[in-house]
Amino acid sequence: MRYSSRIIFLCIFAAFILGVILMLYIIISTSSISYKSRIKNFDVISAFRRKSKPNTKVSLLTIRKCLDLLPQPNFTSLIIDTEILQNIIENKCRKVSRAIKIALHDKMYQELKRSDQLGRKFSIANFSYPEDTDYMRFHDDETGRFARIIPRIKIRSCGEYQVPADILLFLEYWKRSRYIDCLNLTVERKPMEQVLDPVISVMHLAELRNMFVSFNMYPLLNGGTLLGWYRECSVIPHTTDLDFSVKYDEFDISIIEEFWKPSTKFLMNRRLGMPNDSFEITVSPVDNPGYPIDVFVMYDETNHSYVSGTNHIGMKFRYKYPLYDRYCSADLKGKLFWITCDPEGVVKFEYGPMWMKDHNSKNFSWFSSSSNVERNGHWDVAELDDVIQEYEDHILGNSTNQSTIDFT
Ligand SMILES: *[C@@H]1O[C@H](CO)[C@@H](O)[C@H](O)[C@H]1NC(C)=O
Ligand SMILES: *[C@@H]1O[C@H](CO)[C@@H](O)[C@H](O)[C@H]1NC(C)=O
Ligand SMILES: *[C@@H]1O[C@H](CO)[C@@H](O)[C@H](O)[C@H]1NC(C)=O
Ligand SMILES: *[C@@H]1O[C@H](CO)[C@@H](O)[C@H](O)[C@H]1NC(C)=O
Ligand SMILES: *[C@@H]1O[C@H](CO)[C@@H](O)[C@H](O)[C@H]1NC(C)=O
Ligand SMILES: *[C@@H]1O[C@H](CO)[C@@H](O)[C@H](O)[C@H]1NC(C)=O
Ligand SMILES: *[C@@H]1O[C@H](CO)[C@@H](O)[C@H](O)[C@H]1NC(C)=O
Ligand SMILES: *[C@@H]1O[C@H](CO)[C@@H](O)[C@H](O)[C@H]1NC(C)=O
Repeated sequence: MRYSSRIIFLCIFAAFILGVILMLYIIISTSSISYKSRIKNFDVISAFRRKSKPNTKVSLLTIRKCLDLLPQPNFTSLIIDTEILQNIIENKCRKVSRAIKIALHDKMYQELKRSDQLGRKFSIANFSYPEDTDYMRFHDDETGRFARIIPRIKIRSCGEYQVPADILLFLEYWKRSRYIDCLNLTVERKPMEQVLDPVISVMHLAELRNMFVSFNMYPLLNGGTLLGWYRECSVIPHTTDLDFSVKYDEFDISIIEEFWKPSTKFLMNRRLGMPNDSFEITVSPVDNPGYPIDVFVMYDETNHSYVSGTNHIGMKFRYKYPLYDRYCSADLKGKLFWITCDPEGVVKFEYGPMWMKDHNSKNFSWFSSSSNVERNGHWDVAELDDVIQEYEDHILGNSTNQSTIDFT
């Protein structure tokens, strides 16, 4: 090939590469613009975005440095000592003179216990992966009174020590890990068809839980879903939707964008309120629109917590609860969910002294039947377009044309 034709060839080739890059850029940027523009008035609520969480990835070197200061076990031991784990995150390793909290897998625990090899340097819990569940269960010798459950975690090995791969996440799980059993009462009701299948319900709820956890939010069972779990260890047969709540101090509005991405497993049916006032969204599984899930933001006042409702003309309601300040864990059909540590107090507060009796959903008014509901003012007419957003077409698989409610 002659010199000049080689240059021409190179130029054409470079132009071609540039063109491909430009095209990819356009495709990527317009696809993200198009989903954002479909979230109506997203700019209004995006002002409530949270700052990104601090990076708490810890290098294996730091972990090893911390673990080297501890007595070494002769058996594979998962560190569950919250103080030591906190020190690792903060890179403030030091020696400890007390017994270190570790957990051994059930099988090893039994074996070592039988041969009396556990020693005194450790305070030892055992753990297992109960079959047909999505969690790990711990028994703590000291707190033998209750078990703890946490979602199954990834573990890193470091000699005989094992450390949760995401230490911060483990600490958040551990805070909420105290296990509470449901009552499994027999509820008298006429034979009826179950509207929402309990096993399918918890599958979707657990999927949504995982999505929230990836945004550092730890949703709680709320309303009828909490009542169904506590009273009958299931989903109430005539209930037509599922309820989560998320504490305001955890709430991250950025999650909303996920529901508009092509890969989403949930579609957003509606959004009510503003993140700092009466916020609520309803989402439903893409492949199962008959299982809508309401997610309420739960706000705190001095002596109580509350979630909100907004009706179609903009009247606001408030559902009061005892103050939610500690969280526990529950099993609903094999999936882990977080709950209040006082489920009885909360369902009594919401459903009154007869909470053990069935109350058909058809005759249950969301704004007048609960014991804990009160009016909470009104949105201004000028605010209505921002605070009541329905995405019906989105649900029908037609996200290009969304209709809003007509308030005239
Ligand atoms: C580990 O094994 C060594 C030697 O067998 C023993 O001296 C040490 O006390 C053991 N440590 C623990 C924590 O059991
Ligand atoms: C785990 O520990 C708890 C509490 O000490 C105990 O009741 C249970 O039997 C232990 N499990 C096994 C398999 O040893
Ligand atoms: C509730 O009770 C029923 C019948 O007594 C039993 O089959 C079921 O396993 C119990 N469920 C739970 C979660 O304990
Ligand atoms: C919520 O935020 C908006 C905008 O920042 C503000 O105008 C409004 O007063 C806030 N509402 C409450 C209840 O704090
Ligand atoms: C909260 O409860 C305490 C103790 O019952 C009471 O003294 C206080 O007035 C209450 N505060 C509010 C704002 O209701
Ligand atoms: C619904 O409740 C009202 C009063 O609370 C009662 O009068 C009515 O009969 C109930 N309807 C049904 C279908 O249970
Ligand atoms: C989706 O929107 C287009 C254009 O607005 C309309 O022609 C079509 O009928 C809609 N499809 C459904 C399922 O609503
Ligand atoms: C959306 O659909 C409604 C009727 O369902 C129609 O009146 C309106 O023009 C459509 N808007 C767009 C942007 O297609």
